Amino acid sequence: MTPSSGTYREHLENHGISVRTDPVLPFFHYDRNGKLVIRVSGYSDLDLFEVYARYGAVQLNLPDLATQRVHQRWAINGAAAKAAHYPEAVQSAYATKANDWYPVVSRVVRAGCHQETSSPSGVAAAQILWERGEISPEQMVICNGYITAPYAGAIHDLRHAGFANTIPVIDKESVLALFRRDHTWRFGIRQRAHLPAQTDTKPHKGVSRFGMDYEELKRVAMMIQRNPGWELVLYHFHLGSQIIDEDNFLGGLLSAATNYCRLRQQVPTLQYLDIGGGAPVQYGLTPLTINLELLLTRFLVSLKDLCTHFDVPCPTVITEWGRFTVAPSELRMMEIRAQYEPGFIQVHDTIMGSLADNWAIKQPFPVLSLAGLDHPTTRGKIVGLTCDEDDCLFTEDDNHVTIARPDRFRTPGSEVLVVANTGAYQSNLGNLEHCMQLQEAVIAAYLHRGQWVFETVRPRQMAKDMLKLFGWPV
Ligand SMILES: Cc1ncc(COP(=O)(O)O)c(C=O)c1O
Repeated sequence: MTPSSGTYREHLENHGISVRTDPVLPFFHYDRNGKLVIRVSGYSDLDLFEVYARYGAVQLNLPDLATQRVHQRWAINGAAAKAAHYPEAVQSAYATKANDWYPVVSRVVRAGCHQETSSPSGVAAAQILWERGEISPEQMVICNGYITAPYAGAIHDLRHAGFANTIPVIDKESVLALFRRDHTWRFGIRQRAHLPAQTDTKPHKGVSRFGMDYEELKRVAMMIQRNPGWELVLYHFHLGSQIIDEDNFLGGLLSAATNYCRLRQQVPTLQYLDIGGGAPVQYGLTPLTINLELLLTRFLVSLKDLCTHFDVPCPTVITEWGRFTVAPSELRMMEIRAQYEPGFIQVHDTIMGSLADNWAIKQPFPVLSLAGLDHPTTRGKIVGLTCDEDDCLFTEDDNHVTIARPDRFRTPGSEVLVVANTGAYQSNLGNLEHCMQLQEAVIAAYLHRGQWVFETVRPRQMAKDMLKLFGWPV
């Protein structure tokens, strides 16, 4: 580690965070004793040092923060529709793949989101929610992704279980053959869509391979219309994920919405315009500049004009924000090892094993010191326990982070880092077994009657558990 000037508090203040009054990230505050807490209005704070003292440096799942995000989404939808004088509803769906954990999906769906799926397992999950009474008949299960025969089978099973509001989204003409012609179906179709220009920090990903061009889309729409008992109700597109440029986002939305209006002229059953995911999350200390309420308002104003121009009714708009909904609902604690090389902050964990997107697509994550606000800072590269050069936290600051200098005798907890906003995609994609490094325990904290209660989701992995995975006779 390399000492740097000023205290950790000053470092945060240099990022415009007035520690006493501001959250350091959404839901994350330092309280008046300098302890990092999760704060949800109306509830007692969750003291992360207490979690560490009780369970060690764990992965902490916070599914109730996903519910809070759904409430924020309703507020954004409502405010945007009002500001735009949009005559129809703006609804929310949840892209299950962003975080498949049952307590998260169940809460988000019970809070009123439609469920969007990408696989047979996602539909099987919807069936469980249906059988447990956790999804209402008015909510939709929107089946996106590649619809294979097993996926279509799961969709038929959900129908047979009595859930009628299942909307298979057709992304290729050939997929229609998987649906029984003698059943009534309400379908969606997926348009291939891209951002007009790439202005975020990631390299251009090329032409999307998902969905259909307009000509194929129109052909499929007509095939659906011709089959008695089939209806095309939903028009879907998805531009990308973590889109941080507002004009770029808006341009993509409007170009696809124009095609919706053209098709709506010929398909009067179309009533939903599902604009996919893409809402970004703060992955550093500096807040994002995009304003999602304003973006949605601008979109609705322009959509209303487009509908007037094409002389079609305004659709019900659905967003499928996954990352936005669940990113805050998980964090990783990482304990700093006592012995380290100068310039490196070595943690008892593996970065490449537990933060897949950091390793694979250079997605940064915010790192906070658990305690030690008034300690001097230190700067270095966070590295994990595997003997692999790649096991290093990518950051936009030349892979360096600035943290409070750890001194557990002066301030217990200052030897622990919190990697925040890991709730979207990381658990599903990650957990590599490189060097057979053991996974930390997973603990869940739930809000119950105003208090936080804990559950061990998965104990710390033992060497024998790991060896079993590789066929060892243990
Ligand atoms: C069809 C579709 N909808 C929604 C999402 C969720 O995107 P995000 O998590 O960026 O909101 C995805 C993610 O890839 C997707 O493919």
